[in-house]
Amino acid sequence: MKNRTLFACQKCGYQTPKWLGKCPDCGAWNSMAEETACQSARLPAGEAAKPLPLSQVKRDLQQRSSCGIAELDRVLGGGLVKGSIVLIGGDPGIGKSTLLLQASAHLTGTAGSVLYVSAEESPEQIKLRSLRLGINSDGLYLLAETNIERIITQITALKPQAVIIDSIQTVFTAAIESAPGSVSQVRESAGRLMLLAKGSGIPIFLVGHVTKDGALAGPRVLEHLVDTVLYFEGDSGHAFRILRAAKNRFGSTNEIGVFEMKDSGLCEVANPSELFLAERPLGASGSVVVAALEGTRPLLVELQALVSSTSFGTPRRTTIGVDHNRLSLLVAVLEKKVGLQLSGHDIFMNAVGGVRLNEPAADLGMIMAVASSHLDKPVDPQTFFLGEVGLSGEVRAVSQPEIRVKEAAKLGFKRCVLPEGSLKQVKVKGVELAGVKRVEEALATAL
Ligand code: TYD
Ligand code: MG
Repeated sequence: MKNRTLFACQKCGYQTPKWLGKCPDCGAWNSMAEETACQSARLPAGEAAKPLPLSQVKRDLQQRSSCGIAELDRVLGGGLVKGSIVLIGGDPGIGKSTLLLQASAHLTGTAGSVLYVSAEESPEQIKLRSLRLGINSDGLYLLAETNIERIITQITALKPQAVIIDSIQTVFTAAIESAPGSVSQVRESAGRLMLLAKGSGIPIFLVGHVTKDGALAGPRVLEHLVDTVLYFEGDSGHAFRILRAAKNRFGSTNEIGVFEMKDSGLCEVANPSELFLAERPLGASGSVVVAALEGTRPLLVELQALVSSTSFGTPRRTTIGVDHNRLSLLVAVLEKKVGLQLSGHDIFMNAVGGVRLNEPAADLGMIMAVASSHLDKPVDPQTFFLGEVGLSGEVRAVSQPEIRVKEAAKLGFKRCVLPEGSLKQVKVKGVELAGVKRVEEALATAL
């Protein structure tokens, strides 16, 4: 091994042999820090791999073990794959350690022993948490260690069925001089764990911290290195937590898992729509229900809009849970095509329950919520909306309307305003379907 000095951007991981004031990759100023890279001068030991024709590659059915938490299994694509590396990111205090402790307790039952490496908390702290969660499993081993070489020695000695590293930013290797949490430390430690996981078939969960902008701290390369990247989201003011896959080599990235943080830990929410609509004010203007789709799962969400006159020169457009630009665009459509005067008004929009809606199918609902608040006319509480809205005010078809309508029917909704183009794909009893072609028509039928 020989060591070489270089500079790495602490934001994106870009490396350069010379110090630069501005990172040419991500454009950040003053983000370069000196690091030592280790270079292996020898060829790795073992037999070299040879190219194989595709037809001769054996089909390897992925072995998955259930984490015992259905919502987590779903987001992982149907369970934890042998030898895979899963990175879980999220704000501090959101419940990453709680989720993984609960998952490891279940894994000891289904898979065998689990090693929980805590580089942040002492075993006593974890013990306290486990008492709170009612976990007392003999197969669960705790290790308070930050040195990656020692961690790997322990993993090889114990041969657990799964490993949890909490967190990857606090472990370090002695081979590199830079501080724990720096780009090269994080990358090197994760790289070693990956080699271990692939070689031994032990699945490893890594906890990752996120920066102020919500991206995983440390290098983006970490995201490329691992098999699955999950984000644990939610508002610390709310009890709901949503687990979302940003990357998954073994499943879809559209699935979400919904949890509720209680005194006894994270509880799965089997029917999130019911929960998100629980406190809906019936008959209030500006409140509208949309049927969104998260992966394969329909989700009914309440959208609330508040339109009030501007006290300053420039009207404000503030959104929580929906795209800000999308709202501005839809407001422009309402002004130009429907003739509502919104330029002198502040508009606030909120997707209730800390959900994030980034589906165009919520467009019609957003339009209806703004119009309902502006005109101060409530929308019938048993009506919900589906539809993408184009710039000329046309309502466009959405994907998979049938399962969305079915979910709403289950919750007692009686009427659906949806794009005319989606009508023939829906055959659900008990829900009246109102097909619309344009935004004006939707306003006329629902307000
Ligand atoms: P934690 O898992 O430590 O978060 P992270 O590892 O993502 O930083 O979760 C901490 C929060 O969860 C803390 O604010 C307390 C709360 N909590 C509960 O509400 N109920 C519980 O049973 C547990 C264990 C934690
Ligand atoms: Mg933690």
